[in-house]
Amino acid sequence: MAIPTPHISAKKEDIAKTVLMPGDPLRSEFIAKTFLKNPVLVNDVRGVHGYTGEYNGKKVTVMASGMGQPSIGIYSYELYNFYDVDAIIRVGTCGSFHPDLHARDIIVAMGACTNGNYAMQYKLPGTFAPIADFDLVRRAVEECEKAGVNYKVGNIFSSDTFYDDANSGMDWAKMGVLGVEMESAALYCNAARAGKKALCICTVSDSFIYPEENTTAEERQNSFTAMMKIALNLA
Ligand code: HPA
Repeated sequence: MAIPTPHISAKKEDIAKTVLMPGDPLRSEFIAKTFLKNPVLVNDVRGVHGYTGEYNGKKVTVMASGMGQPSIGIYSYELYNFYDVDAIIRVGTCGSFHPDLHARDIIVAMGACTNGNYAMQYKLPGTFAPIADFDLVRRAVEECEKAGVNYKVGNIFSSDTFYDDANSGMDWAKMGVLGVEMESAALYCNAARAGKKALCICTVSDSFIYPEENTTAEERQNSFTAMMKIALNLA
């Protein structure tokens, strides 16, 4: 497929080899304007802001994924396969099921379970286990240790429903799954199929165990900032 793609208007050379990917386009703008040197807007199709700039002398792109597996499926597919991106690091928020994780803690998603059927397209004779790139996981752990944040490494659940009629979160918790978000499994599938790298790190925005721990917008922003620095150091 030719560049620009149906969903990204950037020139090929405007996109860095590593892309940081929050869900929210406004967050992508915040990250670029807060942390990157000389950020340039390289994509604005559908308001999905993408910025490229420098962090510690290295070219980095920050582009939003939108919400859900179909949306991150589109952007990550186009970045890996048409823009020759090597690594996508999702920086998101999640709900947590684990008693050791509180609001503002971090989950490094080594694997992603899902109730979605994104992997059906590969026509595999069994169930595919979407996993993160090991080197990115290892380095994310090093950065979490350096930053002194509370974190856990493990499985996350990529749900196709935010408002889940069956309220199935705690069923996944029985299997040791740490938390729920809506994008990682599709990202990991696309990375695997393209032979590229992916990782998702999430800050816990809400806990199923401690529902009283609601964070303020400012606290969420601050904890998100801590995670962003971890992700930028990886890039
Ligand atoms: N469900 C799905 N995605 C989420 C949640 C949740 O509870 N919290 C943050 N992202």
